[in-house]
Amino acid sequence: MVKFISGEDVLAIRNEVLREGRLQLHECVFPGDDLPGAFHLGYFREEKLVGVVSFHPQIYKAYAGRGYQLRGMATLPAYQGKGLGTQLVNFATVYLKGQGVNYMWCNARKVAVSFYQNSGFEVISDEFQIAGIGPHYVMYLKIQ
Ligand SMILES: CC(C)(COP(=O)(O)OP(=O)(O)OC[C@H]1O[C@@H](n2cnc3c(N)ncnc32)[C@H](O)[C@@H]1OP(=O)(O)O)[C@@H](O)C(=O)NCCC(=O)NCCS
Repeated sequence: MVKFISGEDVLAIRNEVLREGRLQLHECVFPGDDLPGAFHLGYFREEKLVGVVSFHPQIYKAYAGRGYQLRGMATLPAYQGKGLGTQLVNFATVYLKGQGVNYMWCNARKVAVSFYQNSGFEVISDEFQIAGIGPHYVMYLKIQ
């Protein structure tokens, strides 16, 4: 089940899945986590939080309309590949459509490109590197 959660609630899974548990929780906060309009979603399996994603209001370059950046998409390893991440993205898409938002975008890890493509995102950039993490592409999903 998908629920809205706080910016603090996402930090432990962000650290474990996206930073290999190397950081302190406060170092896993992203600028924008507390922006007005930002929100965080969690996937719960039997009351255990097992997947997270965050959304910040943020246009992409000159793309027209209201945009949100998807950030910190992470499912605990034991729960990956079971459709939970897709449900988180689908929930956000329906919610943002209701809010009148036009599109979402993200900096997708190369290994996660097929995951986003399965949810309808398309690649809109050349490959680029994020220091310490690896190759990425900007990906875009039109909502309305
Ligand atoms: C990418 C990730 C968020 C997807 O979440 P999920 O709950 O596993 O997603 P789903 O089960 O809905 O979708 C699975 C699809 O994601 C893709 N995928 C990418 N990495 C994967 C992984 N490590 N395990 C399973 N699927 C993965 C596959 O295309 C898979 O599709 P398939 O089952 O048809 O092969 C999750 O695997 C994860 O946390 N990976 C490590 C962190 C990461 O790379 N985050 C994205 C940062 S941009």
